[in-house]
Amino acid sequence: MPFIATLYFRTAIILLIIGIGIGLHMSMVGDHAPMGAHAHLNLLGWVTGALFGTYYALNPGKASGRLPMLQYAVHMIGLVIMIPALYLMLKGNTSLEPFVAGGSMIVFAGVLLFGWIVFSGDSKAA
Ligand code: HEM
Ligand code: HEM
Repeated sequence: MPFIATLYFRTAIILLIIGIGIGLHMSMVGDHAPMGAHAHLNLLGWVTGALFGTYYALNPGKASGRLPMLQYAVHMIGLVIMIPALYLMLKGNTSLEPFVAGGSMIVFAGVLLFGWIVFSGDSKAA
């Protein structure tokens, strides 16, 4: 499996463990306020990350070079800013909203970059 696919799956499973941890914690303490952080960590971190990894695994010709690593870095930097800020914002720290917005835009940039990779030519198409 290409390195970038392994990297995505390793990161995604860590994010799922943290995401489920938040879900269990919400249930145990009976405070569902951070639901959005739980949902988006699982959906952008685990589901979307694993789908990105699956795409690279199925298309090894697209998995090498700098662009996939840049795409991974942008997606993860966005999530590392967006999710903790969203968690704390939903817990009442409304001043963090600009970080949620900024992190979301970085995640969006990573998704656009992924779109570019999907549509770009592939000399070694599998
Ligand atoms: C054992 C694992 C999990 C636990 C204990 C858990 C727990 C929770 C809890 C307590 C809520 C809040 C429900 C509410 O207030 O209405 C919630 C919402 C949500 N969870 Fe999880 N969750 C788990 C796994 C997952 C996974 C794996 C995903 C996605 C892949 C996910 C996606 C969501 C979404 C999208 C919502 C929002 C649902 C809505 O809009 O009503 N959860 N979860
Ligand atoms: C940067 C990307 C994203 C942004 C900025 C975003 C933004 C939002 C916003 C503003 C809400 C409404 C929250 C509320 O009513 O309190 C929401 C809800 C939701 N989004 Fe996203 N979203 C993103 C990505 C995604 C993705 C990739 C998925 C699925 C794969 C997804 C699934 C959901 C679901 C299931 C809900 C309802 C549960 C909840 O309220 O947390 N979102 N999203």
